[in-house]
Amino acid sequence: MNLIRDLAELKNEVRGVKSEGQSIGFVPTMGFLHEGHLSLLREARRKADYVVMSIFVNPTQFGRDEDYEDYPQDLEGDQKKAAEEGCDLIFFPEKKDMYPPGYLTYVNVEEITEVLCGACRPVHFRGVTTIVAKLFNLVEPDRAYFGQKDAQQALVIKKMVEDLNMNVEIIVCPTVREEDGVAMSSRNKYLQPVERKAAQIIYSTLLAAREKIIAGERNAEVLRKFMWQNLSQEPLADPDYVEIVDEKKLQRVDQIQGPVLLALAVKFGQARLIDNLLVEV
Ligand code: PAF
Repeated sequence: MNLIRDLAELKNEVRGVKSEGQSIGFVPTMGFLHEGHLSLLREARRKADYVVMSIFVNPTQFGRDEDYEDYPQDLEGDQKKAAEEGCDLIFFPEKKDMYPPGYLTYVNVEEITEVLCGACRPVHFRGVTTIVAKLFNLVEPDRAYFGQKDAQQALVIKKMVEDLNMNVEIIVCPTVREEDGVAMSSRNKYLQPVERKAAQIIYSTLLAAREKIIAGERNAEVLRKFMWQNLSQEPLADPDYVEIVDEKKLQRVDQIQGPVLLALAVKFGQARLIDNLLVEV
């Protein structure tokens, strides 16, 4: 497996791969790989001739008081895990090359970035779309893989690709969970053991709300209140938002009449965890 930091070297490698008519599958990450990332790599490996993973903790998607400086990193461990999954190349650029002095250009998807996580983290999605657009330009993938855990991110990236006529197919893969239902996330590392246990309340709340919908509840406000109350039973849980939105535009719904996304963000101590469940009715 190749490890490349330099942008010109990456472009050269990509040119070589493309000239041989090989397809490129791409998994962008911020590193500290877990089973969720590895499931994306496996999916990429199934279809692509050449699999690229990027590892870059992207400063522009973190707010001023967020965890950019503390974001967990483990390049050695990541290399080993990626190699075991048959990754061909890890692209591991430096901040000074991705955002050189005088950098001025950002990509912004409107509206769907202003709700859910976008409401709590105003600069976040502009940073995500900017870095993903840059990575797409560098890696030139045929397909790129994202996790359903970050449902809003996946939707925003799909919209960017559609609106900017980018030549890449976006594949969204299922959320990978620990045995107790907690969604895998690099940020789970911040959880103290007692908080990690308490975090089970997130998925159990989503499942309980889904049960209510299956049983016939269609009033979204009733369900939001139910989810909020459920989370409040856990003293360590500090919810940021609890939402029920339509799956395409992420707009709040009053009555459930079609597929909806149950989405929530909850803080446990230092960690802010997000999760969601798509419910078809
Ligand atoms: O999901 C992530 O890890 C990041 O937001 C991404 C897509 C790699 C962009 O930095």
